[in-house]
Amino acid sequence: MEKKIMCLKKFKVDLAYYFSEVLEKPIAKPLWVYISLSHACTYECQMCGVVKILKDYELPKETVMKAFDEISGWGWDLTIVITGGEAFLRKDIFELIDYGAKRGLKIEVVSNGSLIDQPMAERIIGSGLNNIAISLDGATEKTHDFIRQKGAFNKALNAISHLAAEKLKQGHGPQISVWTTIMKENVGELFDIIGLIKDLGVECLVYHPVIVSQDDMQNTSSNARFWIKGDDLVCLERQIERISKYQKNNGLVVFLHDPYLWLGHFKGELTRHVWKCNPFVFTNIGPDGELRSCGSAFGNIKTMSLEECLNTKEAFKARKIMKHCQKPCLQTCWANPDSDSLSGIADSLIEEINKNSFDENEKSALLKEALEALESYEVILKEKNAKS
Ligand SMILES: C[S@@+](CC[C@H](N)C(=O)[O-])C[C@H]1O[C@@H](n2cnc3c(N)ncnc32)[C@H](O)[C@@H]1O
Ligand code: SF4
Ligand code: SF4
Repeated sequence: MEKKIMCLKKFKVDLAYYFSEVLEKPIAKPLWVYISLSHACTYECQMCGVVKILKDYELPKETVMKAFDEISGWGWDLTIVITGGEAFLRKDIFELIDYGAKRGLKIEVVSNGSLIDQPMAERIIGSGLNNIAISLDGATEKTHDFIRQKGAFNKALNAISHLAAEKLKQGHGPQISVWTTIMKENVGELFDIIGLIKDLGVECLVYHPVIVSQDDMQNTSSNARFWIKGDDLVCLERQIERISKYQKNNGLVVFLHDPYLWLGHFKGELTRHVWKCNPFVFTNIGPDGELRSCGSAFGNIKTMSLEECLNTKEAFKARKIMKHCQKPCLQTCWANPDSDSLSGIADSLIEEINKNSFDENEKSALLKEALEALESYEVILKEKNAKS
């Protein structure tokens, strides 16, 4: 029974993203809500544009709690990613995590690790977080510290060690992850990062390509700093081969999408036939309280509910622009490729059905419910057509 409910739930979520796009309205809630409590940071990494903007803003604790209340009321299976800036600079970070976790929210924090000593690791592991990600931009001290700053590599590795030791001690705790930003400076070390972390207690490694400019995420100019081009593309291809082979045999690496898309991305060859941003899949809340997706601001949670922000005129406009993005950034905006088409959604349902050994009765009950879910959109579509 549980398996049948899971199958249907995924099918309904896929439909909600698909029809949100078709009908151009937020039927689906985001899968990911990124929150930057502040852009204050302990570092000024070379590739990071975040710390240069919205410098003097701090998202008030009460505003975040109000957003958490609203999100938990949605009953939508989403993940809140607390990013920044450096989230552990906030004195109330554990109060906020606790508040969200008690409301059943899945929360992740991504950190540079600079403030995670043993006592901090103890609090993180016991906090109710779902995932703690440490950024690692090289397999060597030289590369990581060049991108970030002197001493950053050892601090990141120490943070991972403290977290892993605490998790072992407490017997439970958040998943420990590593995030790596793919760029020219570290392209030759991407695979070696696996060797570095695989025995440290890291459970998940996520690679994502560099964004040239956080203000203009669709900027993919090959002349930009950090961009991978020329001979480095051959190097990237070899790294992808090695990482994919490792992932197939050992797990650990989680691909947000087919890693060969990274190559197309840096070559500037991705088209909308192979790649598509679903603007309903994610949103960002800045330290100023503004909701933004791909740079466009469309409502402020200091004065409005999230639901209101997602339904402003500006939100509709922003999503329209995103829907036609020709220069994908390959971040989490392409998080639910199954929902790109109805045939993809059907294939995914069939795959799920085949994976589980349902008997004939269960199968027909499931398909009947799936068709009913699909039919409910037919009604909305007819209403829309009648209006236009
Ligand atoms: C902005 S940081 C904030 C959290 C924390 N300070 C850290 O470094 O992990 C979140 C993630 O974005 C990544 N990042 C920074 N600049 C980026 C860029 N230009 N393109 C893509 N990712 C970037 C960082 O490496 C990090 O994994
Ligand atoms: S540590 Fe994170 S937020 Fe700070 S500058 Fe580096 S990437 Fe940006
Ligand atoms: S893929 Fe989506 S988030 Fe990324 S640049 Fe395009 S519209 Fe923006």
